[in-house]
Amino acid sequence: MTTLRLPGLVDVHTHLRVPGGEHKEDFATGTAAALSGGFTCVLAMPNTSPPLVTRTALQGARQLAQASIRCDVGLFGGASPEHIDDLAALAEHAVGLKIYLNDTFGPLRVEDLPTLQACFDRWPRTKPIAMHAEGQSVAVGIGLAAAYHRPVHFCHISRRDEIELIASAKQAGLPVTCEVTPHHLFLTEADAHRLGPLGDMRPRLARQDDQDALWQHLANTVDCIATDHAPHTLAEKASDNPPPGVAGLETSLPLMLTAVRQGRLTMARLVELMAVNPRRVFGLPDQADTFVEIDPDARYEIANHALHTKCGWTPFAGMQVWGRVQRVVLRGAVAYDSDDPDQMAQPGSGRLVPGNDGR
Ligand code: NCD
Ligand code: ZN
Repeated sequence: MTTLRLPGLVDVHTHLRVPGGEHKEDFATGTAAALSGGFTCVLAMPNTSPPLVTRTALQGARQLAQASIRCDVGLFGGASPEHIDDLAALAEHAVGLKIYLNDTFGPLRVEDLPTLQACFDRWPRTKPIAMHAEGQSVAVGIGLAAAYHRPVHFCHISRRDEIELIASAKQAGLPVTCEVTPHHLFLTEADAHRLGPLGDMRPRLARQDDQDALWQHLANTVDCIATDHAPHTLAEKASDNPPPGVAGLETSLPLMLTAVRQGRLTMARLVELMAVNPRRVFGLPDQADTFVEIDPDARYEIANHALHTKCGWTPFAGMQVWGRVQRVVLRGAVAYDSDDPDQMAQPGSGRLVPGNDGR
């Protein structure tokens, strides 16, 4: 058996569903899924119920998190037209601001220019802004990055025209960054057809040509691989109005290790995309004495029963992958061991980012 050591991975886009969606995921199950997927820090999205748009809502979620997280967690604040005046106070303990320009799960949406301008005026320049922008909304985000001369991070970019526009913006020297998800790298609209609601997420799965563009740009334009771990129950997915979103924390590293095995990217680039750049883009603190041990030669089939996420399913079930997470060490202590469930880090042992001192 070969053992390789990687740094603790960081997922800059995950949904831990607290408050209000605890039947889908909670801080203890979501961070167990994170650790077993090789992530030692995850940034959680604010489209909860209620959404994290006020200081009170964010502080409430932070208190719940502090009692339950098994790895480090940062919480995004959310932008909404009704709570523009709360932005400065919200920023203090948020890891960044999430602005939703396009439709997805949850009520958060910003669809007017005055609200966008207020976000850029009031959100502190020291804190990142992340955008859900699809199609021409990407051009809106790039325009704001240029006009305000401040960084904008684009979530789950999935289409050729979008990634090519971001590449042009970067060539023009604009401070933009972006993430892509493993599901957009490994699945297309043909899989969406096969999977039905289990293959439905926002942005939707795209054409082969879009996927080819993401792989072409993985070497330079793309900054981060992010899971967009968006758990919903099988019952919800089987309902008349299935919510969009799929789990991703436990399949992203094996999928990307499989791509390394197939020669589609190097291990060094994987580490940049899943650890180095996520920390840099979001200004996250180092985690001392923290690493992930993997067996790159382990070959196995992804199985729903092996998952830690509360939703208990993945669109990748049945797929053969190379590369298994064996052990995760967080700040010198074993936090996950694939052979020993008792080694799983305890709820409450993770740290909030930023901490209560704001750093
Ligand atoms: C996400 C969710 O379920 O919260 N769903 C999704 O399809 N990606 C929302 C989001 O990230 O846009
Ligand atoms: Zn998301």
